[in-house]
Amino acid sequence: MGFLDRFLKPEEEKELGDFYGNLYDGLIEFHENEGLSAEEARKQAIGGDYETIGCIERDAILALGYSGREMIVDLGCGSGRLARKLVPLLKEEGRYLGLDVNQTLIHEAREQVAKAGGGEAFQFKKITDPVIPVEEKSIDLLVAFSVVTHIDLEDTFNYFKELKRVLKPDGQALISYLSTEIEGHWKLFLQEAGMNAGARNSRVRNHVMVPGTLNRLAEKAGLQVVSDHAADHSWITLTEAVELDGKKREAGEKIHLGQSCLILRSKS
Ligand SMILES: C[S@@+](CC[C@H](N)C(=O)[O-])C[C@H]1O[C@@H](n2cnc3c(N)ncnc32)[C@H](O)[C@@H]1O
Repeated sequence: MGFLDRFLKPEEEKELGDFYGNLYDGLIEFHENEGLSAEEARKQAIGGDYETIGCIERDAILALGYSGREMIVDLGCGSGRLARKLVPLLKEEGRYLGLDVNQTLIHEAREQVAKAGGGEAFQFKKITDPVIPVEEKSIDLLVAFSVVTHIDLEDTFNYFKELKRVLKPDGQALISYLSTEIEGHWKLFLQEAGMNAGARNSRVRNHVMVPGTLNRLAEKAGLQVVSDHAADHSWITLTEAVELDGKKREAGEKIHLGQSCLILRSKS
């Protein structure tokens, strides 16, 4: 066996859900132990600022031309922060599929959508592998808000290959990420760097990308980068007023998500 073969030999495969899903159970439990209700803990575990970020995520996809008639996949849908905001927008022919590795978060997302009046057009599914369980060339839009920020590059690449398979020829995807060029994100990198490897990998990680990394992986997977919005570039028009960092932001204002956003299409 050659030197490299030892590293290339596949180890026993673990399902995604075992690893990433369990990390989120730990985070939910942490927030419950802090005294939050089950519902609040599930909202907090996916990043908090549930109402405001939900509005900004919705407005980001509206900026991409989302009309409510599309088939949209929300990869790493969490506890429904975006899904519930899509309920009033979804038209008769529109479909939403939320995918996640954590069953408790999916359960909460279903509850939130039901509370908002969402019906059969909203489906959720637990996944345990980097597989997008839909037919090839069947989806108009895939979003992954704050997901590749927490998973290994190799898993992101596997999702990109899936994206290539399932996107319609004119479909698009939005992938948000953390960048070494943004001061706040760099602080997160330093925080990760300050931990030993065991501690770092025993909790939900923050992966901060060197610009161009995801672009290259997307290209290798057969995708085309349409745009790459830096985290501090305000490209999203608010469709309703929100409160962000204690400040009121009005409808019509341009805003950013706080993460960089890669917009992808299938390479023809
Ligand atoms: C920070 S939360 C963001 C949730 C949601 N996208 C939002 O913006 O409200 C990250 C989500 O990704 C999910 N997740 C983690 N690893 C994943 C993986 N490998 N595949 C799919 N989802 C994953 C987590 O369970 C969690 O719900």
